[in-house]
Amino acid sequence: MEQEPNTPPHVLIFPLPAQGHVNSMLKLAELLALAGLHVTFLNTDYNQDRLFHHTNVQARFAGFPGFQFKIIPDGLPVEHPRGGDHFYEMFNSMNLVTKPLLREILVSSKLQYYDDSGSSTNNIRSGPVNCIIADGILTFPIDVGNELGIPVIHFRTISACAFWIYFSVPDMEEAGELPNFTSGKEDMDRIITRVAGMETFLRCRDLPNVNRIGHQENPLQVIGEFTRQSTRAHALILNTFEDLERPVLSNIRTQSPQIYTLGPLHALLKHKLGSKTTTSSVQSQSSNSLFQEDRNCITWLDAQPLKSVIYVSFGSLAKLTRYEMREFWYGLINSKKRFLWVIRPDMVDGKDDDGQIQVELVEGTKERGYMAEWVPQEEVLAHPAVGGFFTHSGWNSTIESIIAGVPMICWPYFADQQVNSRFVSEVWKLGMDMKDVCDRVVVETMVNDLMAERREEFIKSTDTMARLARESVSEGGYSYCNLERLIEDIRLMSV
Ligand code: UDX
Repeated sequence: MEQEPNTPPHVLIFPLPAQGHVNSMLKLAELLALAGLHVTFLNTDYNQDRLFHHTNVQARFAGFPGFQFKIIPDGLPVEHPRGGDHFYEMFNSMNLVTKPLLREILVSSKLQYYDDSGSSTNNIRSGPVNCIIADGILTFPIDVGNELGIPVIHFRTISACAFWIYFSVPDMEEAGELPNFTSGKEDMDRIITRVAGMETFLRCRDLPNVNRIGHQENPLQVIGEFTRQSTRAHALILNTFEDLERPVLSNIRTQSPQIYTLGPLHALLKHKLGSKTTTSSVQSQSSNSLFQEDRNCITWLDAQPLKSVIYVSFGSLAKLTRYEMREFWYGLINSKKRFLWVIRPDMVDGKDDDGQIQVELVEGTKERGYMAEWVPQEEVLAHPAVGGFFTHSGWNSTIESIIAGVPMICWPYFADQQVNSRFVSEVWKLGMDMKDVCDRVVVETMVNDLMAERREEFIKSTDTMARLARESVSEGGYSYCNLERLIEDIRLMSV
C-alpha cells in the first residue's frame, strides 16, 4: 500500500513487556490516537494475552479507527517465568529474537492496515510507519529505525533523576566511585560526587540496585551504557513534569536536547478525555492492567474515614521474602492504622514459604485491613479515605501518588526505585525513605509518623506538588504544551 496524501502519520509504539512500561506507553498511545494519529501498539504475544484477558482495552480502543494492536514474540516459551530474576532472560531474548522480527515487520507492509468496516467515507487506510516510539530500555529499535530511515523517539518510563544517574555511570566509573554492592564491604553512606547536581545528597545506597535483576558481572555499567544510547534517538520522552525535576532536566538537556516531559501521563490523558466531548465511545476509567483488579476494595474504602487508610503496594515485579512480609505485617498491625494491602499471588518468594503466611496475614488483617491481589491503583490513590502510600517507589506509583497528593513511605526494591525514594524524602520532602531496613518497629513508627505525628510536615509539600502536577497537565501547562509539540513534530515527520 502506498501512503496517500492527507493520511495521518502512523506511529509504532513498542513498550518493554512489563506492567509499568505497558501502562504508561498505552496512555501515550491513547493520547496520540485522540489527536487523530494512526497508532500501532506492539505487544509481546505473552503480554497481549494478559492485557486482553484482564482489561477492556480492545473495546476501549475500538473507539479509535486508526488504532491497532499487533504482536511480536519475546522469544521465550509461554510457560517460561518472566518476573523477578527471570526478567533479564526475557530482556536478552528480545535482543536476539525480537530485533530481526521488528525489522521484518517494518520492511514488509504487515503493520499497514486497511479497515473498510465503516461506511465508504470512513474507511481507514494507514500509511507506512513514520515514527517509532520505543521503550528507552530497548536500544535495538534505534538500530532498526536508523537502518530503515524511520525516526525513533525513546520513551524512558523512569524519573529524570534516575535517568541522569544511569547516564552518569561511566563518569562514576572513571572516578572510581562505583560501589561493589555484592562485596559486603562498601560504606553505603559514602557520598557520590560525580553525578552533576546531586553532589551533596546522593549516597551509595541511593544508586540503582540492579543486582536483583540479573546475574551479569556489572549490571549498572551495562544499564549505564545503554542509557547513553538514548542520545542516538531523535528525541526523549519522560513521564515527569518540569516543576518536579527542573534542575536534573537541565542537565539531561545538555546531552539530549530534545526532551518532551509529558507527566503525569495518566492525568494528562484524563484531562484530554475530559475535554473531548466527541469521544463518548472511549471510557474515561481506563485500566491497562496485566492482572485481574479487585474492585471490591473501592467499596471497602468507601466505608473508611477520611485519610485514615495507608495503601500498601510494591508494584508488579517485586518479590518479598516471607521474613519481609512478616515484618511489614506486624508493623502495620501494631501501628493500629487501617490499611489496604496488595499482595500479588507471585509476590512472596516461595523458597522458604511453608504456606502459613497467607493464613496468618488474612487472620490478622480482618479487623482494619483489606488484602487484595491487584487493585485499580490510580483510583485508590485518589480515594478520599487514603492518607498514605507505603510503596516500592516504582516511578509510575511515585508520580501517581504525587498528583494525588498522598505522602509516601518508600521501601525501594530494585533499580530506579532506590533513586526515587531518595528524591521523595530528601529533595521533594514528600515522605520518608525506609530503604535497606525491614523491621516491624520501624514500619510501625513510620506509619504512625506519616499518618499522624509528622503528617502536617509532609502535607505541605504534597499539596504544593500535587497542584503543580495538575497545572502541568492543564491547558497551557508544560506537559500539555509538550504533548502538542510532540504531535506536531510527528506530523512533520510524515510530510
Ligand atoms: C517497574 C519500575 O519499578 C518502575 O520504576 C519502572 O519505571 C517501570 O518498571 P513496577 O515495579 O511495576 O515497574 O512499578 P511502577 O512503575 O510503580 O508501576 C506499577 C503500575 O501498576 C502503576 O501504574 C500502578 O498504578 C499499577 N498498579 C500497581 C495497579 O494498577 N494495581 C496494583 O495493585 C498495583
